[in-house]
Amino acid sequence: MTRPRFDFDRPVDRDNTLSAKWNYIKESVGVEDALPMWVADMDFETVPEVKAAILDRAQHGIYGYTARSKGYYDAIIDWNLKRHGWKVDKKWITHSPGVVNALFTAVRAFVKPGDGILIQPPVYPPFYRAISKNNCETVLNPLKLEEGRYVPDLADFADKVGSGRVKLFILCNPHNPVGRVFTEEELRAMGELCLKHGVIVISDEIHSDLLFKPHRHVPFASISEAFAQNSVICTAPSKTFNLAGLSTSNIIIPNDELRRRYDEVNEQVAQKSHNIFGAAACEAAYRHGEEWLDQLMSYIDGNRQYALEFIEARLPQLKVYNPEGTYFLWLDCRSLGIGNQELEKFLLHEAKLWFNQGYTFGNEGDGFVRINIGCQRSTVEEALKRLEHAVCSPVQQG
Ligand SMILES: Cc1ncc(COP(=O)(O)O)c(C=O)c1O
Repeated sequence: MTRPRFDFDRPVDRDNTLSAKWNYIKESVGVEDALPMWVADMDFETVPEVKAAILDRAQHGIYGYTARSKGYYDAIIDWNLKRHGWKVDKKWITHSPGVVNALFTAVRAFVKPGDGILIQPPVYPPFYRAISKNNCETVLNPLKLEEGRYVPDLADFADKVGSGRVKLFILCNPHNPVGRVFTEEELRAMGELCLKHGVIVISDEIHSDLLFKPHRHVPFASISEAFAQNSVICTAPSKTFNLAGLSTSNIIIPNDELRRRYDEVNEQVAQKSHNIFGAAACEAAYRHGEEWLDQLMSYIDGNRQYALEFIEARLPQLKVYNPEGTYFLWLDCRSLGIGNQELEKFLLHEAKLWFNQGYTFGNEGDGFVRINIGCQRSTVEEALKRLEHAVCSPVQQG
């Protein structure tokens, strides 16, 4: 049965909700009226059944230590099969409160201090921290631009993983912030090199449900048995259904020995307990959220197209990369000719816009910003008007 249309245009008041995105603007960036389009949470209410499942669980009144139900595991398995064509075995599924926790856990489980870990900048800032905080060496394989599209630099990748220093590769697919959904061919090429050189792959696939047509997500471990046995797949319902505050992610590790080592470190840091509401929400989301998600992505696609057309027509001096997935736009502001700090100040104080600054994703992000368009169209319109006004003002032009 087709559901009624969800009204993603309806603004949701986030005042006084302890929202990291909306409620601490002045304290965080010093500008009261900056429009927050930074951190990766969306301004939409989640799937109605998810809300109902949480309320239902809350009614009980006892929220003690909790286990995972068969229904919970089945929901994850069915979702992966239906949405991504990937057959997951229940025993492969292990947990973490968040994907970032899982990255840190995996680094501790699979490498030792001093080992090299490969990442592909510009990339999600906690990747750098998972490496440096565990005293490992960051090895960079920057994405390269080919005909206006970010792609893996495979020659450099081969050099780096072949150097003997690299023990782990942290892949981000779909890629935050550039929005690439890597093709099977690209994944195969990288995965084969990792197999050849004994490099384990941690594939952060938290954005894998957020796809624009016709792009298709290929779970890294679904490509071959050898890839499955050499990888850890980090998934969560949190980005897809706007549940980040529920601290629930699902880490899928087909290889028994890798899973044992991962679980062992999870125990060492006492990170094995579950969030009771997160479990209820995850199950309900994967069971009932498909139609909502399809409608959500077509709404965000509208935001994407609106923004791309606006920038092309009215801010042609800036270059925006067309994302294939995620709800981010990656915007090149280098033509403004100002440094990172100045750009940040300009956007906050002149344009009154709070975007993620590109430099936080690595040097490759200098002069860029990441814009979160997981919000009402009216917010995107307002933001772009503010940007146009500030960029095209006589002071900026002069
Ligand atoms: C690539 C990527 N990994 C992980 C996370 C955060 O995951 P969690 O909140 O589950 O730690 C994000 C959030 O933006 C992300 O973009």
